[in-house]
Amino acid sequence: MLTDKYARRFTYLRLSVTESCNFRCNYCLPNGPDCTSRKNEITLPEIKRVVTAFAKTGTKKVRITGGEPALRKDLADIIRTCKSVPGIEQVVITTNGYRLERDLDTWIEAGLDSINVSIDSLNPGTFQMITGDSRLPSILRGIDMALERGMQNVKVNSVLLRDYNASELPEFLQYVRDRGVTMRFIELMQTGDNRAYYKRNHVSGQSVKEKLLAGGWSQTIKSITAGPAQEFSHPDYAGRMGLIMPYSTDFCADCNRLRVSSRGQLFMCLFAEQHNDLRQYLQNDDSAPLIQHLHDVLQGKAESHYLHEEFTGATRHLAMIGG
Ligand code: 5AD
Ligand code: SF4
Repeated sequence: MLTDKYARRFTYLRLSVTESCNFRCNYCLPNGPDCTSRKNEITLPEIKRVVTAFAKTGTKKVRITGGEPALRKDLADIIRTCKSVPGIEQVVITTNGYRLERDLDTWIEAGLDSINVSIDSLNPGTFQMITGDSRLPSILRGIDMALERGMQNVKVNSVLLRDYNASELPEFLQYVRDRGVTMRFIELMQTGDNRAYYKRNHVSGQSVKEKLLAGGWSQTIKSITAGPAQEFSHPDYAGRMGLIMPYSTDFCADCNRLRVSSRGQLFMCLFAEQHNDLRQYLQNDDSAPLIQHLHDVLQGKAESHYLHEEFTGATRHLAMIGG
């Protein structure tokens, strides 16, 4: 089992398969990806090896992230490969949703268990202002398709943004009234590239929490394997609401995740200063050296990020590592 010096256990791997993205979310890639974003992407055999090593040390869940993972032509094979590794119980994906309507069935057939879809506004105009993309209606149909297929744990992520969606709580509440999805607001995090935008748009999730509690929502008890979101339920709503507040105290205390980038680097934290190149360990099927290496480097995992001190490490934007 992979553990660190703070006795945290790592059972969840977030694997980025590309840094590239076809959206231009203004807090992430306002000018689009740079021209090197698709160079040297982790290959299918390397993915199999990395997931195998993690599974042997206790990883049970893999989330495929990007950039936008659906830009990979071999995404269905990536899903199938992750799912076929002994010990991996769940394979899920975080996507901007642009290929959902077209490809969801192929992904489900390959073994996909669930999806997180990023939707920062339910208003098509605002959505386009934030992302540069006009396909919100198709993305929403894709989510309904997932629900019709009986997919469990479907989540919608929305980054809280003062200038764009901070007043859209009623629309999001309406969205979950009859839909069994969990709608989560994520506090905007500062990254190397978005400093001025962050200053202007960061809103604390606390005000949303107060509104939910005042509106009859109750906070649910977290299971040990749950992520960092605080979740809320309401007897009149089919769906749930959630908040991810990385600026709140103790956010990192029960960190259960590690990240591997599409360039084969281990990110021990979203905001680490340095990353650890795993590629040399991914060139043959012997997992033992990689497993030993993971045990060694994890002893250096920091207790917390230092976002409060405006320290963003080497993370220029989250397309580098998929949040
Ligand atoms: N702060 C908070 N969330 C972010 N995301 C991307 N950049 C940021 C940021 N700076 C979100 C995306 C997506 C998830 C992977 O991370 O919108 O929902
Ligand atoms: Fe693409 Fe996600 Fe970044 Fe938006 S937040 S530009 S969808 S990687």
